[in-house]
Amino acid sequence: MRLETIFSTETLHSKVLELANKISSDYKDSEIFAIGILKGAFIFFADIIRAITVPTYIDFMIASSYQDTSSTGVVKIHSDISANIANKDVLLIDDIVDTGISLNFIRNHLLKKNPATLKICVLFDKKARRVIEVPIDYVGFEIPNEFVVGYGLDYNNKYRNLPYLAILKK
Ligand code: IMP
Ligand code: MG
Repeated sequence: MRLETIFSTETLHSKVLELANKISSDYKDSEIFAIGILKGAFIFFADIIRAITVPTYIDFMIASSYQDTSSTGVVKIHSDISANIANKDVLLIDDIVDTGISLNFIRNHLLKKNPATLKICVLFDKKARRVIEVPIDYVGFEIPNEFVVGYGLDYNNKYRNLPYLAILKK
């Protein structure tokens, strides 16, 4: 296995700031209820919420759909949010959207809890792989159809701690 860097730490951080600025201005008169999807989003989530300037509440869900480098197509919610999000402005934050199956499932799950609004923010979008259309409000980077690791993203739980994004070449 070989790693090929595609986005450096600096490139990632400036994009995170750009997204946070856009979000802070869009939500300037409200409060955000941010929900991070673990484990993949943990680093992006921690970085972006610290750059958002409007009052922000946080919660997490643990969900999974992947094994090795392919989506199983079956989404499991291992842990749900604990807070009540009825009438809140929810911002769902995830690392990457690929087939769209996970975010579509999680979005439908959260909509049943009657938030006032529900928007989605992802750092990476593998658009070419989309199977289910899911409305994404904030996208950091569109990336090619390659398996990527680092900045929270893993291959069998490895590489999450890399401070940059790399393509994993076999
Ligand atoms: P989807 O349901 O196919 O959109 O997959 C979404 C989830 O699969 C993401 O939240 C990631 O956890 C994982 N995933 C998708 N593509 C990659 C990748 O290239 N590297 C690591 N994880 C990925
Ligand atoms: Mg994920």
